[in-house]
Amino acid sequence: MRIRVTPVSRLDGRVEVPGDKSISHRAALFGALARGRTEISGFLEGDDCLNTLKVIRLLGAEVTRKGPGHYLVDGAGPCGLNEPEDILDCGNSGTTARLLLGVLAGQPFWSVLTGDESLRGRPMGRVAEPLRLMGATVVGRDGGKRLPLAVGGARPLKAITYRSPVASAQVKTALLLAGLWADGPVTVEEPALSRDHTERMLRGFGARLEIEQRRVTITPGVELRGQPVAVPGDISSAAFFLVAGSIVREARLTIGNVGVNPTRAGVLDVLGAMGARLSLTPLGKAYGEGGPAEPAADVTLAAAALRAGEVGGALIPRLIDEVPVLAVAASAAAGVTRIRDAAELRVKESDRLHAIATELGRMGADIVELPDGLEIRGGKRLRGATVQSAGDHRVAMALIVAGLVADAPTVVEDTGCIATSFPGFVQALNGLAGRPCAVPLP
Ligand code: S3P
Repeated sequence: MRIRVTPVSRLDGRVEVPGDKSISHRAALFGALARGRTEISGFLEGDDCLNTLKVIRLLGAEVTRKGPGHYLVDGAGPCGLNEPEDILDCGNSGTTARLLLGVLAGQPFWSVLTGDESLRGRPMGRVAEPLRLMGATVVGRDGGKRLPLAVGGARPLKAITYRSPVASAQVKTALLLAGLWADGPVTVEEPALSRDHTERMLRGFGARLEIEQRRVTITPGVELRGQPVAVPGDISSAAFFLVAGSIVREARLTIGNVGVNPTRAGVLDVLGAMGARLSLTPLGKAYGEGGPAEPAADVTLAAAALRAGEVGGALIPRLIDEVPVLAVAASAAAGVTRIRDAAELRVKESDRLHAIATELGRMGADIVELPDGLEIRGGKRLRGATVQSAGDHRVAMALIVAGLVADAPTVVEDTGCIATSFPGFVQALNGLAGRPCAVPLP
C-alpha cells in the first residue's frame, strides 16, 4: 500500500494513541505464565501483539476477546504450558521472539520459532547465548544466532549473573523470565538502563525482584498470579504527533493517556530541550496490588520554533524507537543535531539509520549517516518526493510526518507495515488535520 501525503498548515484537536506495544506484549505473555486470569484493557491490536496472542494460545493459554483492546488471558500456570504442535511464527515482532525464547528455555519440551524476512535477519544470539549458559539448547541458522531457532528447554535452568553487552529490555526480560525456572537467583546487568516495564509488571504479578540501578535479580519459587492490566497509550506512537504538532505551523494538540515511564520518555526530554511547547497533566495507572505504577499523562503541545539537539549516551535506550521521527524534527530545527551511540538502530525492523538518512535525504534534508547515528543540519524546506518505508512501521510514519511540512505532496511506499504498531494512524492524523491529508493510493 502507498500513502499520498499533502502538506498541512494546521493540526488541531485531541487524539488517543493505541496501547503501548511493550506493555501489551508483556501483559499477554505474563498472563499466559500466571495462575488465574489476567484482564487486559487498552491492549494494542496491532500485528505484533496479535502475534503474541497467537503464540500463547499455541502454548496452551486461553485468550478471550471481550471487545476492542479488552482481553481475558487465562494462564496455563508456571508448569502448564504445552509443547506446541506447530512452528511459533512471531511475524515481524522482535519482542515476541526474544521474550518467548526466555520462556521456552525453561520448558520441558522442544519448540521451533520463526518470523518474517526482517525478523529472520535480526540478531537472536544476544538472547540465545546467555540461555545456553543457563542450560537450554538453542540451535538454528547462523550457528544458532538467527531464526528459525529450535529450543530444547531445561528445568531447572542454572542460576547466572549475566552482564549484557547491549542495553536491551528484550534481552533483560528473556533472562528474567527464564529465571522463573532457574535453580537460584538470576541477575542481569546492563550497560545503560533499558525500559523497565518488565520489572514493574512482574512485581505486580507477584515475582520476587531486587533492583539496583542497572542490575536486576529475580529469585524463583514464587508463582505468578494473574492481574488486571490497564495499558496506557504508547509513547512511541504518540511521538509522531509530538513531532507533527511541533513542526506544523498552526498546531495545537492534546494526546490523551500517554505512558510516560521515565525509562521510555526520552523523546519528551529531547523535544523539550529543542524548544517544543509541551505540557503534561499526570494521570494514575497501576498494575496489581503493590506493583509500582506505570505513569501516564495527557500531553498538550503547540507548534514551536525548534532548535537543534544533542542525542546520545544513556538517553538512547530511553528513545530508541523514536529516532526516525526525531530526525524529522531535527530537519525542521535551526542548527545541527547529532544523534550518536545509536548503532542498535541498524538491527531493528530495518536499518533505521540508513533508511531514514536515505529517504529524508530524498526529500531534500541535509542529513549524513554516521556509523552510530545521524547528523542533521536543519532548517531547509523539505521537498515532496516518492519515498520508501523499508517495510518498517516507524520509518513509514516518520516519513508521513515529514510529508506534512514538505513543499508538495509526498508518496510513501510500502505502508502496510504501519499496522504493526499503529493500525489507525492515518485516520487519527486526518482527524487532527480536519481533512484527508494522508490518503491510501490504489
Ligand atoms: C522493546 C525493547 C526495545 C525496542 C522494541 C521493544 C521491548 O528493543 O526497540 O521496540 O518491548 O522490550 P531492545 O530491547 O532490543 O532494545
